[in-house]
Amino acid sequence: MGNVILIGFMGSGKTTVGLKLSYRLRRTVIDTDKEIEKEEKRTISDIFATDGEAYFRDKETECLRKLLKGTANQIISVGGGLPLRQENRELLGKLGQVFYLCANAGTIYERVKHDTSRPLLQGDDPQSKIARMLKERDGCYRAAADVVIDVNDKDFEQILCEIGEYVE
Ligand code: S3P
Repeated sequence: MGNVILIGFMGSGKTTVGLKLSYRLRRTVIDTDKEIEKEEKRTISDIFATDGEAYFRDKETECLRKLLKGTANQIISVGGGLPLRQENRELLGKLGQVFYLCANAGTIYERVKHDTSRPLLQGDDPQSKIARMLKERDGCYRAAADVVIDVNDKDFEQILCEIGEYVE
């Protein structure tokens, strides 16, 4: 459907790249986390605390199904765990061209270490948790992606240029 979709681990820069890309390509941007928060009228942290992760994951699939009914030629950034479901990976493929913003555990930790809005990264040893989750998830991200963009040690300008080379 001609959308540009950004996937990747928490802190890989999907939201910021999405916004900047939206200015550059003059396309509107949608973020699945924000869509879900709007619809549920509460934050992701509240959703996880009250209804649990499984509930949130169902909302992600619902969100993709809705986007498939209407959204073309937009930029879509998606939550870091959304591509883990096979069904979601198929829906992403139908929605458009999927870019995996690939960051290593060190880059991610530096970006998210002061963040309290991501329930899955709270707790005692976020550094090892990030490394473990990234290892588990990388295969799913690659399976969903049309293009892998290495974002380590790059500024946003470089990342935008690289994505621009591939956008159809
Ligand atoms: C999650 C990533 C978050 C958000 C939720 C769960 C994950 O989105 O959907 O906290 O499982 O990786 P961001 O990747 O935008 O932080």
